[in-house]
Amino acid sequence: SRRITVRDIAAAKERGEKWPMLTAYDAMTASVFDESGIPVLLVGDSMGNCHLGYESTVPVTLDEIAILSAAVVRGTKRALVVADLPFGSYQEGPVQALRSATRLVKEAGAGAVKLEGGERSAHQVELLVSSGIPVMAHVGLTPQSVHAYGGYPVQGRGEEAAQQLLRDAKAVQDAGAFAVVLEAVPAELAAEVTRSLHIPTVGIGAGVECDAQVLVWTDMAGFTAGRVPRFVKQYLQLRELLGGAAKAFAEDVVGGAFPAEEHTFH
Ligand code: KIV
Ligand code: NA
Repeated sequence: SRRITVRDIAAAKERGEKWPMLTAYDAMTASVFDESGIPVLLVGDSMGNCHLGYESTVPVTLDEIAILSAAVVRGTKRALVVADLPFGSYQEGPVQALRSATRLVKEAGAGAVKLEGGERSAHQVELLVSSGIPVMAHVGLTPQSVHAYGGYPVQGRGEEAAQQLLRDAKAVQDAGAFAVVLEAVPAELAAEVTRSLHIPTVGIGAGVECDAQVLVWTDMAGFTAGRVPRFVKQYLQLRELLGGAAKAFAEDVVGGAFPAEEHTFH
């Protein structure tokens, strides 16, 4: 069976079908999500926080995204793999964006790329799309701007900010993006954006009326340490389960219960 493409994504909006997206950063986890029927996997720069041990997405490099995107592509058969363009790999302009995105498509085998920004990134989106690279845009809270925000505040509150968000979403649609992530946006505004666009909106902390929903997989699975944002639903307590397994293994080794006869060659 063939991979999901951006044409399937467009058809889903026409049929009014909602779809799920998860992040993935390695082949094994990606294969589980692929076999579970998740149609779109994002190799997000959230790998900075939840896979590489950085404090934000800002330090993530194009090499890191390329290596882990290739792994996710190798681990999947059906999912559309979207690779995030990291901070510093597209802000210089459309030509830099094309050079970076080309690596992710050619070397890593990604089916699409994602970048942050609305009006401010529209020229980048336009050149990538006209060059044959599908682009998912990302507006509202854009975590690569953490130093400018001074944190991760909800976006689009107040009339002026709401109008700017609508303009940002329209700008990336007009530039040719096939979908747009809305992050940390009031549900009513996200619903208005969703109604006013012909491309699908992918919500994270943006209410139930978006066309699709995305979560960082380590948040979704309860693997992330400490507090998770209000918009996260944890479907598993993976951190606790895995920790329990590690403790049980340690006890067995210390107490001599592992390896047992059935694990032993003679
Ligand atoms: O990097 C990421 O995981 C993302 C999603 C939260 C949309 O950009
Ligand atoms: Na990201």
